[in-house]
Amino acid sequence: MNGRIIVTGATGSMGAAAVEALASQNLPVLMACRNLEKAEAVRATVAARIPSADITVRALDLASLDSVRAFAEGIVPGSVTGLFNNAGVISKCYSLTGDGFENTFSVNYFGPWLLTNLLLPKMPADARVVNMVSLTCRFVRLTEEALRPAERDFSQLGTYARAKRALLSFSLELARRNPALHVNLADPGIVASGMIDLGHWFDPLADALFKPFCKTPKAGVQPALRALASEKHNRYFVGKGDREIPGRYLDPELDARIWAETQRLIAV
Ligand SMILES: NC(=O)c1ccc[n+]([C@@H]2O[C@H](COP(=O)([O-])OP(=O)(O)OC[C@H]3O[C@@H](n4cnc5c(N)ncnc54)[C@H](OP(=O)(O)O)[C@@H]3O)[C@@H](O)[C@H]2O)c1
Repeated sequence: MNGRIIVTGATGSMGAAAVEALASQNLPVLMACRNLEKAEAVRATVAARIPSADITVRALDLASLDSVRAFAEGIVPGSVTGLFNNAGVISKCYSLTGDGFENTFSVNYFGPWLLTNLLLPKMPADARVVNMVSLTCRFVRLTEEALRPAERDFSQLGTYARAKRALLSFSLELARRNPALHVNLADPGIVASGMIDLGHWFDPLADALFKPFCKTPKAGVQPALRALASEKHNRYFVGKGDREIPGRYLDPELDARIWAETQRLIAV
């Protein structure tokens, strides 16, 4: 790989760890972030540790499809060889984006869906795409209706899990449609980051008891880094290895329906 690797959510715990790890391998990185001030601080910290680091920063708000389109339009064809869809959020309350999508779904699913599809023609056929999923996927069922939850169907963890499950379905269909592309899934496990503070009253206690047993961001991002470097296709990177996509997720008809519904909803 000699083009840039785009890391979304590069200001976050695992995103920043990924930027540093990639820069330390002399790989050029493009940080795609909604908060440019935070992004610049991460870039400067990594550059201070790794003076040869080649890191650029661009604005990307995955809760806005216009922002996704503007970001993709600014990418020079051939300049990018990898995309790490790392950004994610667990919204505490139900809210809709300006495009009318539930926020957790927009950031974890619709934004990455559109971003990846807009970048595909600009990347080599054998580019790397790594999507960050979660063990929560196994506890939910995906349907077309789930893509646009009504307020009464919203729950903080359930909606997040369904959005990640939709991202997983997208990855499988993307791999089917682009056989040369290296599309892989990464599951970091449970990582001590801002994200696992779910905003409930017992958080300080839960944090104190629970966080020492969580992985560090540097450890949690390792499966994704191995996936980005891998020649493999359609594998589930978790822990220290990778395996076939678990059978519970294999439903090509569902994947095709979810793809078609997403296309319809975001009008591409
Ligand atoms: N932590 C875990 O235990 C765990 C487990 C399984 C999967 N994951 C997944 O791993 C990925 C990284 O999580 P993390 O733990 O490193 O979380 P984190 O520290 O909270 O980082 C999340 C990143 O996503 C960015 N983001 C949020 N909303 C965005 C938006 N609208 N547009 C663009 N970027 C946005 C954040 O930007 P700001 O800095 O501007 O907020 C931040 O850079 C996520 O996809 C998460 O779902 C995490």
